[in-house]
Amino acid sequence: MVKEECKPESLMMSYGYKPELSEGAIKSPIFQTSTFVFKTAEAGKAFFELAYGLREKGSREEPGLIYSRINNPDVEILENRLTLWDKAEECAVFESGMAAITTLLLEFLRPGDLLLHSAPVYGGTDHFIEKILVKFGIQSVPFYAHDSKAAVIDKIERSGKAGRLAMIYIETPGNPTNALIDIEMCRAIADQFSVSGKQVYVAVDNTYMGPLWQHPLKFGADFVLYSATKYIGGHSDVIAGACLGSAGLIKRVKNLRTFLGNMAGPWSSWLLLRSLETLKVRMECQAANAVRVAEFLAGHPKVEKVYYPSLLPKIHPQYRIYRKQCLSPGAMLSFDIRGGEAEAFKFLNSLRLMKLAVSLGGTESLAEHPATMTHIDVSDCERKIMSISEKLIRISVGVENVGDLISDIDQALSAV
Ligand SMILES: Cc1ncc(COP(=O)(O)O)c(C=O)c1O
Repeated sequence: MVKEECKPESLMMSYGYKPELSEGAIKSPIFQTSTFVFKTAEAGKAFFELAYGLREKGSREEPGLIYSRINNPDVEILENRLTLWDKAEECAVFESGMAAITTLLLEFLRPGDLLLHSAPVYGGTDHFIEKILVKFGIQSVPFYAHDSKAAVIDKIERSGKAGRLAMIYIETPGNPTNALIDIEMCRAIADQFSVSGKQVYVAVDNTYMGPLWQHPLKFGADFVLYSATKYIGGHSDVIAGACLGSAGLIKRVKNLRTFLGNMAGPWSSWLLLRSLETLKVRMECQAANAVRVAEFLAGHPKVEKVYYPSLLPKIHPQYRIYRKQCLSPGAMLSFDIRGGEAEAFKFLNSLRLMKLAVSLGGTESLAEHPATMTHIDVSDCERKIMSISEKLIRISVGVENVGDLISDIDQALSAV
């Protein structure tokens, strides 16, 4: 089937795989090999020339398999399938979400550059920006979901490095309160600070919405990033990451990946191929469950506030971003319990079906306390700005029976 004829979910079982190359096996075998045999020395030479960009690919030429740090069939099939959801030209997969994020930042930032990023971003990303990029002379400026376009531009100008703005990096919806950032607004700001010969890039960590519910490239982003550990993997049993974008830009990402050596291996890639076959059914079930859980929480007397996009007041500017950008409210939600840390901990300790753990997007529902767990490293002042208080609880909704999930939450709230 050609990709234009079918929806991505129909292609997840077959796209990019030729059974005739693998003894007719219906599923791609795990190509657990470090290196590949060349038919002739000339073929080996031709493969290397292409891999190192020493000449352009011939019109009928296929890049050959060389060595699994450069390419591997499971990795390539996975990359091809992932491009379908985001309608990206190319994809590079990594052994973790952090590997995808850090490789992208290292490839496109130079000493003296300025990085503008939304806050909060995932703790690992924040650490890399604040503690590691600074060692390379890269300065960063955060902005918040409630900042207007004018306020963001003002932040860039007041940094004194507007001329060195190289990238706008955002996470939307933000973790843990689902704060939304307008991707088109970021594109417009990036264009305003781009000059001929120096484009300001826009990168979106799309982990929270996954490949199904938000397509940042459509709104002008240059890169989409995933912790594939989350919805893409979906079973809490693999760590992986992905970066998608145009062929020219992903070629640069893959080039650095070859030398950092942080590509996904055949086994992780094979696991993700298996996960992708059920991505849509899993995510749809998770979102349907999340809507019911959010509505239940919103009506509960022990709950002060629920952070879930479809529950935003219709006139709220954030609601407009949600309707424009997202195809679903998603399966991540947070809520403020009445009380503080003691009440939040009592709730978490009383859960029976849901597990008390960080991470998200898996088949099982997980609950955690951001202020003392995932966001413990965030300063008190920043936590306050972002509503990450001691009464906040984050839930990743899974595929369990929704009645069982609500009963579990109900009994845990009763115990408080
Ligand atoms: C939004 C987001 N981005 C990136 C990451 C990092 O991904 P990984 O743990 O796969 O390296 C995470 C991990 O929790 C995340 O939640």
